[in-house]
Amino acid sequence: MSGDGMRAVTVRRPAPGLVGRIWRGLGHPVVSLASVFCALYCVVGVYYAERREGRGFEEAPQPRARRKNDLGAAALVALDGWMYANESTLQSLSVMRDMRNDAVARDEYIAQLRAVKDELGASRLAAREEMVPSALIPENSVDVEVMMQHSFAKRLIVSQRLRAVYCPIPKVASTNFKRLIRKFEGFSDHQNLTRAHSSDSGLVRLSELAPELARQILEDRTYLKFVVVREPYSRALSCYLNKFHTRQISDPEFRRFLGQLVGWKYIGDAEVTEADRPTFARFVNAIWKQLPAQMNEHWAIQSVLCGIGVIPYDFVGRFEELPEHALLILRALGKSAESFPSPSEIGFLSTEANTQLDAFYTPALRSSVREIYHADFNLLEYAI
Ligand SMILES: *[C@@H]1O[C@H](CO)[C@@H](O)[C@H](O)[C@H]1NC(C)=O
Ligand SMILES: *[C@@H]1O[C@H](CO)[C@@H](O)[C@H](O)[C@H]1NC(C)=O
Repeated sequence: MSGDGMRAVTVRRPAPGLVGRIWRGLGHPVVSLASVFCALYCVVGVYYAERREGRGFEEAPQPRARRKNDLGAAALVALDGWMYANESTLQSLSVMRDMRNDAVARDEYIAQLRAVKDELGASRLAAREEMVPSALIPENSVDVEVMMQHSFAKRLIVSQRLRAVYCPIPKVASTNFKRLIRKFEGFSDHQNLTRAHSSDSGLVRLSELAPELARQILEDRTYLKFVVVREPYSRALSCYLNKFHTRQISDPEFRRFLGQLVGWKYIGDAEVTEADRPTFARFVNAIWKQLPAQMNEHWAIQSVLCGIGVIPYDFVGRFEELPEHALLILRALGKSAESFPSPSEIGFLSTEANTQLDAFYTPALRSSVREIYHADFNLLEYAI
């Protein structure tokens, strides 16, 4: 039997074929080391390729259910914080006293204003009455404690001295209004525009007040609650020009905005290069994919940002009608002697977005922007 075994061992096996030789070759230490490296290289390569890929976007948005925007503006407000998103609150939020189209609401509101005419004085009352067609007052008041948890409560500036509540929207003269409020509040360094935006501005936010006081202020007709909005096409372009188009790659802000645009996982600690500079189409497509609550304040939906539909706004002014609207606001604040400086007068450079719309917008991009800001177009009555 052992003879059989010996024979079996010494039988020459046929020379291995090509596959066999490769197989045996793989057993060689050098080769197996090389294959491990190869595999690693592959995995790492795919990872980095994906990261790079993530920074680019298809030029045209893919049609898909992108957000619950069919629910309307109130639902968008609801989506910010996710806490209002149930049928009962949505209904109460969506009933707006839209002064522009509701004569009965307008008369009721004017009667409320006249009831406080002694406190307002004739000139302020006249300005307030002039503002009535641009007021947006929700019919049902919302639970203030719940409202205070929304991000717009952290945005709204309250000046008890001025009897005003203002919602700043970036790229819509917000620096100018913050500066004025600081001046009227008596800050000696009100010329410092950096401080106007800084956390040490001294400006009080609605969310810092006790809920009861906040409720009183929101219901008090002598307080002017105002916001200034901008036409969405031009605001989106202005944001793109300022944050991405004209900004130096080396500016740390560029990296910060890019991270917020495409997601930090795609940026990581990699160096940002000129190739990462988004085109306007890529910018629009990236914000189209974001949920309202995720959006950076510079491209966020204005109604979401300021709780339009929740906060009783006595005046929704328009950037397109500055400085007239700014002067009306100053009159309503009892500051008619004050002037409203142009952006260049306070050292601000305009992006000139209004004159560049045709150069940047294709019909497809217009329709994407229309979809993203559909609540703003509807609620703020901008032509689509
Ligand atoms: C809807 O949301 C409001 C506000 O958060 C809450 O008070 C209410 O109980 C909710 N209703 C239902 C049916 O969940
Ligand atoms: C302006 O305000 C900023 C932010 O608070 C501050 O760092 C800076 O020193 C101020 N500039 C002047 C000239 O006071």
